[in-house]
Amino acid sequence: MRPYQQTYHQSIDQPEAFWAEQARRIPWLTPPTTILSYDDQQHARWFSDGEMNLCHAALDYHVEQGRGEQAAIYWDSPVTQTQQTITYRQLLVRVATFAGALQQLGVEKGDRVVIYMPMIPEAVVAMYACARLGAIHSVVFGGFAPHELAARIEDAAPKVVVAASCGIEAGKVVPYKPIIEQALAQSPHRPDACVIKVRPECTVEFNEREYDWETLVSQASPAECVAVKGTDPLYILYTSGTTGKPKGIVRDTAGYAVALAYSMEAIYALAPGDVFFTASDVGWVVGHSYIVYGPLLHGCSTVLYEGKPVKTPDAGSFWRIIEQYRVTSFFTAPTAFRAIKKEDPEATCLERYDISSLKHLYVAGERLDPPTYHWLDDLLDVPVIDHWWQTETGWPIAANLPGIEPMPTKAGSATVPVPGFNVQVLDRNGEQAGPLEQGSVVIKQPMPPGCLTGVWGDPQRFHSAYMAAFPGYYLTGDGGYFDEQGYLFIMGRTDDVINVAGHRLSTGEMEEVLGGHPAVAECAVIGIHDDLKGQLPVGLVIPKDGYREAPETLEAELIARVRETIGPIACFKQVIVVDRLPKTRSGKILRKLLRNLADGQEVGIPSTIDDPTSVDDVHRAMCEHQIGSANKAPPVI
Ligand code: COA
Ligand code: AMP
Repeated sequence: MRPYQQTYHQSIDQPEAFWAEQARRIPWLTPPTTILSYDDQQHARWFSDGEMNLCHAALDYHVEQGRGEQAAIYWDSPVTQTQQTITYRQLLVRVATFAGALQQLGVEKGDRVVIYMPMIPEAVVAMYACARLGAIHSVVFGGFAPHELAARIEDAAPKVVVAASCGIEAGKVVPYKPIIEQALAQSPHRPDACVIKVRPECTVEFNEREYDWETLVSQASPAECVAVKGTDPLYILYTSGTTGKPKGIVRDTAGYAVALAYSMEAIYALAPGDVFFTASDVGWVVGHSYIVYGPLLHGCSTVLYEGKPVKTPDAGSFWRIIEQYRVTSFFTAPTAFRAIKKEDPEATCLERYDISSLKHLYVAGERLDPPTYHWLDDLLDVPVIDHWWQTETGWPIAANLPGIEPMPTKAGSATVPVPGFNVQVLDRNGEQAGPLEQGSVVIKQPMPPGCLTGVWGDPQRFHSAYMAAFPGYYLTGDGGYFDEQGYLFIMGRTDDVINVAGHRLSTGEMEEVLGGHPAVAECAVIGIHDDLKGQLPVGLVIPKDGYREAPETLEAELIARVRETIGPIACFKQVIVVDRLPKTRSGKILRKLLRNLADGQEVGIPSTIDDPTSVDDVHRAMCEHQIGSANKAPPVI
């Protein structure tokens, strides 16, 4: 058997033996004797009686092993024109001291801490400080509006909120304090304290229960690591589901640490001392796993980049960083390369830099579309690896695995299942689909270490969202197929989740926001194709009687409403007012038909439709508004 097949089969046939071996990759305070067990819902739990501390494994341990003077973080912030190198020893001191400061504020093991920060070293410090105390962090992405922050504060009920005075976005200072104040005013939960890191770009006035980061730290003594059980939660990370309420994905400690340590070698082909550059944000799972935790667990240096792929100052920023820090592996979303390609199609910026240190390029967050794959493949001398994963899994489900056995790449495919993930494609009846047959992509239980262990405070939702559709399998929500060689092709979501610029968003949540406007009788939000961002949301709205005049005003109000409620990251910029929406006789809006119309595809009229002429009306409105490729659509059949 070839190395990949051998490793993969061992991981599926003998998961306990396989993961017991991988568990040796991390330093334990008490090594586990139980490798795999099941909770009362029959969900896998890994390393339940082992004890460790993730901050110890990533920082204290490496300093003890002689990596103290190696760079842990290269902070590169073109938006503030700052570059800083922070060694493992320096980072450990900063983390231990901030952990001491949190302790002074009463934070203990199991308490939640919400972190609302941009891409600055203090964000990493705050995350590790929580891990050091056994507190559970929940990082919220800076592009979310107060309402979203409020929902997360309400759900996680943090003892402390840690924030910065501002983010810097598209050349503008975005003050965070007003966002936090509005969020706290909307949330019934009141944290004991809010710690704010004041950045030079934006000062703040401190109110009661608000503390200046620097003052707190200057008065704090370093805190020791608190031992936690393997199954104790490390963090909650909220992600979009099909409804307005985001899901708090719970990640355990030891399973995650072992999975990340394994992936650093098997997938990212990195050795301790190498440099990993992941251009994402600490607010997303990619940032948690491969900016903050994975690289440092493995003794690598990580690049923390505060900027965009383009216009900071030009389309050469990524290439500059690869040269400057001698980056070994680089990871970002395909949309970032589409932005670079749009700005610099001939890649002339690349000619200025020596990127010979780079061995592999990785992309995820959305499907790597074949044109972008070919552009990159022609441009670079290194393998371009598309790999597929989700907030829920915490690390890749399918990938090319150069650390085990490099495989030929196929455009549009995330290559093969990663060891530990028993990936299958099921048809509607729950039967295994054959090669090239598209169906629901599922993962047979037990899920490997690192995957979600629950939805915070909502065990029922964990079951209904992921486990109920096909008993014994985790439902990924993605559709796809295997080809004859066992390559996996992920073709897109099968639910109401869309992917905009590598960010996961819920159309259901947007519909709730639109439906809350007093003038809206009915609405549907669909994702339409966009060359740069992959997908963009579009709202189709039927106004109530009496609100049909001035559709432009209503459209503008609805766009503003989504931006103010969900945030600019929703990229919600198009609304069409229509008289009717195509529905079934039982009143269900035919969303797939709407998506196909917007994408210029031929549509068939289902026999269950209530009023076939509504399709023509909507199509006409889409063409007038130049939505997607609607004007290319052939006449409706
Ligand atoms: N704080 C406040 N606002 C933010 C923000 C933040 N942290 N991040 C984004 N926004 C705003 C943007 O300024 C933009 O506002 P606008 O509507 O006023 O223009 C809006 O949210 C949409 O942002 P985005 O979709 O990111 O568009 P963009 O034009 O700024 O950038 C890309 C486009 C492709 C360059 C960018 O999305 C990108 O680099 N994506 C990579 C995706 C990624 O990291 N995915 C994680 C998984 S790997
Ligand atoms: P998130 O949880 O935000 O990381 O989004 C996860 C979703 O993004 C997946 O369910 C997929 O729909 C999509 N996705 C992520 N990576 C890929 C990929 N490499 N190929 C196809 N879709 C992807």
